[in-house]
Amino acid sequence: MSLNLLPRAFQASLRLGSASRVTINVPRWTRPYATPPAEQKNRTAIVTGSARGIGKAIALRLAQDGYDICVNDIPANRTGADDVVSEIKSLGRNAFPFMADVSNLQEVEKLVEASVSELGPLNTMVANAGIAQVKALLDLTEHDLKRMFEINVFGVFNCYSTAAKQMIKQGSGGKLLGAASIVAFKPFALLSHYSASKWAVRGMTQAFAMEMAEHRITVNAYAPGIVGTAMWELIDEELGKKRGAKKGDTIKKYTDELIALGRTSVPEDVSKTVSFLSSPDADYMTGQTIVIDGGIIFT
Ligand SMILES: NC(=O)c1ccc[n+]([C@@H]2O[C@H](COP(=O)([O-])OP(=O)(O)OC[C@H]3O[C@@H](n4cnc5c(N)ncnc54)[C@H](O)[C@@H]3O)[C@@H](O)[C@H]2O)c1
Repeated sequence: MSLNLLPRAFQASLRLGSASRVTINVPRWTRPYATPPAEQKNRTAIVTGSARGIGKAIALRLAQDGYDICVNDIPANRTGADDVVSEIKSLGRNAFPFMADVSNLQEVEKLVEASVSELGPLNTMVANAGIAQVKALLDLTEHDLKRMFEINVFGVFNCYSTAAKQMIKQGSGGKLLGAASIVAFKPFALLSHYSASKWAVRGMTQAFAMEMAEHRITVNAYAPGIVGTAMWELIDEELGKKRGAKKGDTIKKYTDELIALGRTSVPEDVSKTVSFLSSPDADYMTGQTIVIDGGIIFT
């Protein structure tokens, strides 16, 4: 078909040089997300729970990608947050620590406010902070259930909604990302309320994606498998106690029996995917929960 007969939006420069290189310009009706307007110098992101573990790896990776970062955690992990900020600054990017409990809406509002005033308009929110607890269903107390949902579900809601309101005010579009888990697809026994909280993150991610699309905000979640962080140290220890296994044995058993690629995940396996989701390359994705688990769950 002659190029001239293609719809105008698809017409683009077609250059067939000696190397037969074809260049197609992006059609004018595609819309950028989390792309700062010309007057904004740098993209910015908030990463919650980034004093250690997966959040730390995400903060460092996004800084390498050119983002300035607001490093959030709870006051108990202030030292870790300060260290992450120093590492980011040594990469030549701007960063600052802001202590806030994501389960508290007022604190999340202050977090977003501080990030905008310190770094500039907000382009990406990574609602990463979460907790886990190993307990049999019939031993769960009301407090256990509430605490789990306050941090893992209300925490993500507080971050998604507060960041979205800021992005809408800016008129800039943006990206919301949340930490789900493979247990958002298939629960683990003894991690039932944790699993339910991650199913909620997956559901909320889909619902937010529907309502935020008109504001040029994409919403996606990442679902790690078994990552060797403080969280899994706790899970390993607690599952081990219940099953009479010694420290380190449970994570090894799960790795050997469940992970197709045969090794425990490291935080950087996850931060690579988050880097993609927060880049223009993921502009046409929304409402997805992406599994990065070395092959445990097949979606
Ligand atoms: N480690 C894994 O195997 C794994 C697997 C699937 C999903 N995830 C999820 O990834 C995320 C990060 O996990 P991780 O392994 O790095 O855990 P981690 O425990 O090592 O780090 C979590 C960080 O979140 C912070 N945090 C906890 N409650 C907070 C709150 N109320 N407000 C702000 N910060 C808070 C903690 O202080 C900590 O620094 C969590 O949401 C977790 O559920 C982890």
